[in-house]
Order: sequence, then structure tokens, then C-alpha cells
Amino acid sequence: MDKEITREPILVTRPSMPPKEEFISEIDSIWKNAWLTNMGVKHNALMEALTERFQVKYTALFTNGHLALEMALQAMNLTGEVITTPYTFVSTTHAIVRSGLTPVFCDIDPDTYTIDVEKIEKLITPNTCAIVPVHVYGNICDADGIQKIADQYGLKVLYDAAHAFNETYNGINVAALGDASMFSFHATKVFNTIEGGAIATNHKKLFDTVSKIKNFGIEYGETVNEIGGNAKMNEFQAAMGICNLKHLDEEIRKREKVVQRYREHLENRPGIKLCPQPKNVKSNYAYFPVVFEAQTLGIDRNGISGILEKHGIYSRKYFYPITTDFDCYKHLYDSSETPIAKQIGNSILTLPLYADLPLETVDEICNIIVRAIK
Ligand SMILES: Cc1ncc(COP(=O)(O)O)c(C=O)c1O
Repeated sequence: MDKEITREPILVTRPSMPPKEEFISEIDSIWKNAWLTNMGVKHNALMEALTERFQVKYTALFTNGHLALEMALQAMNLTGEVITTPYTFVSTTHAIVRSGLTPVFCDIDPDTYTIDVEKIEKLITPNTCAIVPVHVYGNICDADGIQKIADQYGLKVLYDAAHAFNETYNGINVAALGDASMFSFHATKVFNTIEGGAIATNHKKLFDTVSKIKNFGIEYGETVNEIGGNAKMNEFQAAMGICNLKHLDEEIRKREKVVQRYREHLENRPGIKLCPQPKNVKSNYAYFPVVFEAQTLGIDRNGISGILEKHGIYSRKYFYPITTDFDCYKHLYDSSETPIAKQIGNSILTLPLYADLPLETVDEICNIIVRAIK
């Protein structure tokens, strides 16, 4: 009979939270100001801090990353086809479709799981208007290759950088890549504002337009000149961000230790594939994805996840299914046209990772996996 599990379940993630007193002290002035939302003091302070960190000219804050993505697409005034990948959180595909655009799915690179630059050009048609690549798990896309194609064909580039907060690529903050980058500050992300998101850009017009669209299209007073919605970040979200930002570097250092421990256990094992750690990328250690090759291991990803669950350890099939296989898309797209995305989606698990995950728990998780594959 299975041994009874006595400890708390180990979840795949756990939000970073500042000390409670720090948050309470940060929100104190909100009562004095009686200003809860609509670009208040906290919102503006966080916007400034992030603009500096991102090393871009402009940062617009949103109530979540998804609406930031939709509103950036709207502000870019796009029509037609957008080249993207199905290997992402469904938000990316939804944002494109809900913006009245047609996603065209490109396969992914088998090592980084980001868009395969070699396969983009043959998908370009006279209707192509933009590329929306995704820095999955914080693996940075081949941004130089993407920009070259975009420049050649006159395409906009909007990065889904939801996973890539605080990362650098060739020494440059990823926020500065392309025409704009979207970040998610969801509770599960390396940096959170409970829910939240941002568009970082060096283009003033884009910043001005998304800033209006997130506030009903209001320019000022009685002037409304964009068909906007409501996606403003409120003061409590911003206060959480201000507090979390103070601890970010320490959180990332702790995450790095967890990732190193995983790598010590799982690297160089036949049938287990880990993401590369390129020298030109400073990582944020957002996720720890592992591909389990069933043919070599004699057990597949589902088997591993089931065994971990029996020990009260919850991994995540992320991203599974790929977006073209969801009910709302599968009648429109053939996921076998992106075979690498499909294959990775069928064999990947992200393992528990958060700053305070004890290293002994990482040992336990890896020991269970190693026993399962023998
Ligand atoms: C790749 C990706 N894109 C978009 C989003 C949407 O961000 P949010 O949850 O902040 O709306 C997320 C996160 O949830 C994500 O992981």
C-alpha cells in the first residue's frame, strides 16, 4: 500500500509575496489620498520604476497581461494575418483572434520551444501584418533573426514576453525588443502585481494609443478618440508591485538555486531533455520545463506526472494541448502542421519552482523521477 503523505502538497508554483507589514505600510497612503485607480500615485511610481528597469522609453500598465496584448494589437492598427506559434498559453492566440486578426501558426525550435525563425518566411503572404513571437519559459526568441525578417517585409513585431520579466538578451533588456513587448504580472509570474501586465515600447505613439485604449479611449476630459475598453491597473495592484520589486533580485537568486539543483539531478540523463542556458541570456528562472522522451525512458510524461501526484507533488502539462488543439480552434487548424510544437506539448512537464521551494524537496522530486525512469 502507498505510504501516507504527511506534508503539505507541493504545488507547481507559489506566488511571491512581500512581508505583510511592508504591504500594509505601502497601502496606507491610499486611504489618505482616497484615490483607488485611474493612474494614481502608486500606478505612476510603479510605471516609472519599471520603465527604468526595462530600459525603454515608455511602459503602460494594465490590469492583466492578456488585455495588454489585445490593446497593443489594436493600437498597432493591424489587419490580416499574424504569424505566431501554437506553443504558448492560450491567451496569445485568443488575443490575436479577439482582435479580428488571423493567426498563422509557425512551428517551434526543438530546443528553445520559441518560434522557428527558419520557418517564418514561407508563411508570409501579402496579408501578413505582424509577428507575435513568445519567449516561452523565459527562453528568448531569436530576436535578431525575427527583426531581420520583419524589416525585410515591413512587419510589426509584438513580443509575448509574459514569461521573460527582467531578462536580458545580448545585454539588452528583452522589453526593448521588437516594436513592443507584453509582460504579465499574474500571481504565478516571477514578478507579480496580483493580476497585472504591461506594454513596454520605445514608440511614443504606440504608448499614447494603448494608454488611451486601456481607459475607454479617453484622450482627456470630454474627448474620446479611440474605441477603448477598461484595463487600468489599480492602486492596490501597483502597491503590490512596488513591494515585490524590492525583493525581486533576491527572489530570482533563490529561484536560480532551485534550478541549479534540478539540473544537478536531471542533466545528462538519456531521455530527459532540459532547456539550453545560452550565454547571451540572463535568465529569470521562471519555469523548469522537462521533456520526457517515452521511447527512451519506457514511461511517458503522463506516467511521471501521475507518480509525482501520488507523492503529493503537482507538476503541470504546460503547454498542453497546444492552442490549435483546443476545442475552440481545432476545427479551424491542423496541429500536425506544427509537429514539433505538438510533440513537445505531448511530452513536457514543468516541475514545481518558486523562490522558497526547499532544495530538499527538489531532491525528493528528482529522486522520484529517477526511480520512475529506471
Ligand atoms: C505566455 C503567456 N501569454 C499571456 C499570458 C496572459 O497574461 P495574464 O494572465 O496576465 O493575463 C500569460 C499568463 O498567464 C502567459 O503565460
